[in-house]
Amino acid sequence: MSEPFDIVIFGGAGDLAYRKIIPALYRSYCEDKLPASSRVIACCRNEDEQLSYLSHVDEALQEHLAEGEYHSDHAMIFAEHVHPVVLDIAESGERWQSMADLLNTYSQRVRVYYLAIPPAIFGVCCQHLSQYNLVDEHSRVVVEKPLGYNAATANAINEEIARYFDESAIYRIDHYLGKETVQNLMALRFTNVIFEQLWDAKSIDHVQISISETVGLEGRAGFYNEAGALRDMVQNHLLQLLCLVAMESPHKMNASSIRAEKVKVLESLRPMSGEEVKRHTVRGQYVAGNHKGKLVPGYLEELDQAHSSTETFVALRAYIDNWRWARVPFYLRTGKRMKHRCAEIVIQYKEVSHRVYGGDTGALAPNRLVIRLQPEESIQLTLMAKDLDTLDMRLQPANLNLNFSDTYKHFKSDAYKRLILDAVSANSSLFIHRDEVAHAWAWIDPIIDAWQNAAQEPHLYRAGTWGPVESDELLAEDGFTWFNAG
Ligand code: BG6
Repeated sequence: MSEPFDIVIFGGAGDLAYRKIIPALYRSYCEDKLPASSRVIACCRNEDEQLSYLSHVDEALQEHLAEGEYHSDHAMIFAEHVHPVVLDIAESGERWQSMADLLNTYSQRVRVYYLAIPPAIFGVCCQHLSQYNLVDEHSRVVVEKPLGYNAATANAINEEIARYFDESAIYRIDHYLGKETVQNLMALRFTNVIFEQLWDAKSIDHVQISISETVGLEGRAGFYNEAGALRDMVQNHLLQLLCLVAMESPHKMNASSIRAEKVKVLESLRPMSGEEVKRHTVRGQYVAGNHKGKLVPGYLEELDQAHSSTETFVALRAYIDNWRWARVPFYLRTGKRMKHRCAEIVIQYKEVSHRVYGGDTGALAPNRLVIRLQPEESIQLTLMAKDLDTLDMRLQPANLNLNFSDTYKHFKSDAYKRLILDAVSANSSLFIHRDEVAHAWAWIDPIIDAWQNAAQEPHLYRAGTWGPVESDELLAEDGFTWFNAG
């Protein structure tokens, strides 16, 4: 077990804290990774919130942990680590002084400041941390998206934090990077000679990266309607996944080498503007439809507005202009209220160069590697093989499956737990560097501008489907189809 640490959750009674951070810390406790005397200091907005905090923590654990994970005796001991305090982040004064006194009871220990608050108050929060001498070589700040609305606002946020924290102490979370299969993607790529040799434009036909969700707005209408799917999902999660698929092998598995390789990919993304955006992107918005036999409302109904041009779905074709990926299309797709919840990377290989089995031996399907990140985490490789049910020479695709929950019985993935513990131990390799944020926005901004200039409304799709037909047409133009889960 490591040394005790303190984690301060700014926005301790917010949705993110209850849904993700608290369950992640509980799991850390259950795995002996929250050493005795470590403190979870949760900032509440007022006394009422503070008084009821521990009972809300308990409810949150019961609600958000997976089946069988909640144990009341563990939850009780975990709660002893939790210290709710009242703090008005924007107001200096007595409350901040009490926070400083509380933290200074252990002045030498690692402190993680988790900013689970709107970016508009990141600056003032960091300023107060600095003013009360709470920033030193043991402290780190963890920041959550949205990191800006475009390149300029992201830069302004990063500048503000950088006034008080060194880049090496800033941990920008993209929770997709904490998913075990995402890390496994790097392990797969960089430790297997078969993939090392077969990972470029010579062998790979195209790549699909798709994150489909079945949920709608989940009470985040205000934020989401401003952001839309491109900013909410593509700028961060999808581009990060694309980087991991496309990057060169880092010289070492450390933060600076990995980040440097990711930045090169982002820099090589072919910029799009005007007509290209029209040709290579599809925007969609869901209308009411059926999900698992239940009628679910459309976006505008959920929003309670007569009109909105915000996209809840994006599909796009991207190119990476470098030697490895020349002319290989990368199709990215994400949407709310789609048919199934699934995050998947599909590496579609080329066909064999010469067909030796002629006659009636069956169609040849190219090899395909499917890395599924959720709901279950698995890797599947489709190979062609002989059909063993017949003496005739018939070929058929066969799947090699690695299902992590079957193989690793105790495997319980929690991206937030992983990332918080990494921040505690100062391992920033799964966090985003400021340069990555800047490059990602530099690619995204012109797409948004082109959409705005064209003033084109999103294509409608029924909730419970795979998105608008235009998304299928995007791939059909190149002779492909989306690999749809389930
Ligand atoms: C968040 C987005 O970053 O990721 C949400 O803001 C989205 O809109 C969520 O629902 C998806 O995360 P996961 O891990 O559930 O796929």
